[in-house]
Amino acid sequence: MYKIPIIFDCDPGHDDAIALIMALSSDKLDIKAITTTAGNQTQEKILRNTVNILGFLNKNDSGIMIGKGLDKPLIKDLIIADNVHGESGLDGPVLPENKTHNFIINSSLNVMKNILENSKEKITIVATGPLTNVAVFLTVYPELKNKIEKISLMGGACFGGNITSNSEFNIFVDPEAAKIVFDSGVPIVMSGLDVTLKAQVYEKEIIEFKNYGRVGTFVSELLEFFHKTTTPHFLAKEDEEEGAHLHDPCAVAYLLDESIFTGKQLYVTVDKNDGYSNGQTVVDYGSNIDKNKNAYVLFDLKREALIEMIKDACIKLN
Ligand code: RIB
Ligand code: CA
Repeated sequence: MYKIPIIFDCDPGHDDAIALIMALSSDKLDIKAITTTAGNQTQEKILRNTVNILGFLNKNDSGIMIGKGLDKPLIKDLIIADNVHGESGLDGPVLPENKTHNFIINSSLNVMKNILENSKEKITIVATGPLTNVAVFLTVYPELKNKIEKISLMGGACFGGNITSNSEFNIFVDPEAAKIVFDSGVPIVMSGLDVTLKAQVYEKEIIEFKNYGRVGTFVSELLEFFHKTTTPHFLAKEDEEEGAHLHDPCAVAYLLDESIFTGKQLYVTVDKNDGYSNGQTVVDYGSNIDKNKNAYVLFDLKREALIEMIKDACIKLN
C-alpha cells in the first residue's frame, strides 16, 4: 500500500499527542520526521514530550528523524498555553522519561531540508502548532517548495477565535510565520476552529478509551485533563455538554480519510497588524477577493468517525 510521506511539526500538547498516535499507527502514513515547535509549552518541554511520547509508543527504533525547532516566534515573544496543557505541556498522565532512545536531534530546518532535498516524492507537512519552523524553512529554501505536496495544518478560523475574539492560538502565537505559510503558494488544508470545535469527545467516550489497552488509557488520561481545561467557546450551547476539542487530530484525520470532512476552497491570509485582529486568519468566505484560493478550509466532519479513528489507533499501537 502506498504510504504518504510526512513531516509532522507539532507542539505536544494533549491534542498533538493524540494526533501523533493516529499518525504513528497508520498504514497510510510514513513519518519521515517530527519537528518540534514552541507553543503549548517552551521548546525544551515540547522536545522532551515528543521524545517521551515516542518512547512510550515503542518507536525508539522507528528511524524517525527529530528536528528541534526555534525557541520563539519570528517577531513576537513566546506565549504558551500552560493554562490548557499544564506545567509539563502534557499534564495528566504519567509519561516515563525516554532514557533509552538514540534519536539524533538536529535542527528542524536541517531535517526539513535534508528530507525534502533527498526525497524522490513530494512530502506532506502536517503542522499542529505555531508555524514558525515551517515559515523559516519556506523562507530559507524557497526552491524546495515544489517538493511539498501540501500542508495539512490545524490553525486559524473563518469565524471567531479561542485566544482572542478573532484569533486561534497557533496563528496568534506567530502571525508573521503564519502569513509566510499561507502566502507561500503551497497548497494548504486548514483545520480551523470552524471544524475543530465540532470535533468534540464527550466524557462517556473519554472514559471508554480506557478499554483500549495502555495506549487507550494514556489517551483517556490526556483527555480527562484536557477536558478539565477546555473552556466553552463562542458557539457552545448552554444546555449541552461541551466535550474536549480534538483540534490537532483533524489535521491528521484529513490525510487518513478526507471523506469524513466537508470544506470549501477559499483564499486565506493572515492579519499580522497590531490590534484586535492580530493573528486572525482572513478567510475570503464570500469569494470577494480576486486572489488564488490557496486553502481548502474545513467546516464540518463526521464526529463519530474521528473517534473511531483514534480508537483504532490505540488498539493498533498497544
Ligand atoms: O487552538 C488549538 C491549537 O492550539 C492546538 O494545536 C493546540 O494543541 C494548541 O496548540
Ligand atoms: Ca498543537
